[in-house]
Amino acid sequence: MKKITARAHANIALIKYWGKRDSRLNLPAVGSLSLTLKALSTTTSVEFQEGLSEDSLSINGSDAGEKQTRRASRFLDLIRTDAGIQHGAIIDSTNNFPTGAGLASSASGFAALTVAAANAAGLNLSPSRLSELSRQGSGSAARSIFGGFVEMKLGEKADGSDSIAVPLHPAEHWPLAMLILITSEAEKPIGSTEGMNLTAETSPYYPAWVNTSPDDIAIAREAIAARDIEKLGEISEFSCFKMHGLAMSANPAIIYWNGLSVTLIHEIRRLRAQGIPAYVTMDAGPQVKVLTLPEYVEKLTGLLSEIEGIRQIINTEIGGDARILTE
Ligand code: PMV
Repeated sequence: MKKITARAHANIALIKYWGKRDSRLNLPAVGSLSLTLKALSTTTSVEFQEGLSEDSLSINGSDAGEKQTRRASRFLDLIRTDAGIQHGAIIDSTNNFPTGAGLASSASGFAALTVAAANAAGLNLSPSRLSELSRQGSGSAARSIFGGFVEMKLGEKADGSDSIAVPLHPAEHWPLAMLILITSEAEKPIGSTEGMNLTAETSPYYPAWVNTSPDDIAIAREAIAARDIEKLGEISEFSCFKMHGLAMSANPAIIYWNGLSVTLIHEIRRLRAQGIPAYVTMDAGPQVKVLTLPEYVEKLTGLLSEIEGIRQIINTEIGGDARILTE
């Protein structure tokens, strides 16, 4: 069987996904809306080999260890079932960004794995089906199948076949920029799946979160169509802080921020008050992402570089679809 290499970009949700309505199929409790990021990508090759009874996974050149390999294997079982094959696979995956920094490596990772594995198994799948499969690896990975501005549909079917991402606009629709401020490389205290489940079980605010999400998505969709940065930035911050407020209202509280995250949140809002279009978004970790327009990137990078403690600033434009690199 052929060895196939695929590349997918990470993505950052502006309207956040937090909560599952079905754990087995990994169906989200809310829809979400994201930007695919050009500068952050995972490149993965997959080769199914006759006679191999187990999968092997290497990440950035080293053996991935049991837990990660098991997660990838369980995911490959879906592809093996579809393709009617039983062989194990050799998987080799490389991120072009610091791993362990909570930078959505599961999104680009599972999207690249889906595209490479499906093609290596001889399946010729539609992007929608690839997105549906990817979702079962990681919810946010469903969005990384597509470039540009992407919406993850909540869906309503029990089998999850309509819980898939759809491309809204290509990257060229509206050149936006994102600055990713790395505040810490420490491992996050609680992973997204565990965090979501604890939140759903214990937060009194969870029903309000689920009920108000469709409005946020509708506003973000309109803002993107009209290329209105203020409207998009404001609804993105609202969704981000609602998600983090929700996580903090779990019992025990889930707090992803560190001190520097809070300092940066205030600084970005201060700069915005001075007329710079800069809006905060954060995921299940302490890194602060700033949504802005390309013409403000240099100025913002200069101003933010002066703040002590930032480990790295990654500047990215919007990226493209997940794709095969070699046949
Ligand atoms: O894809 P997961 O299961 O790692 O969850 C991602 C959750 C957030 O990054 C916090 C929000 C999102 O929509 O990407």
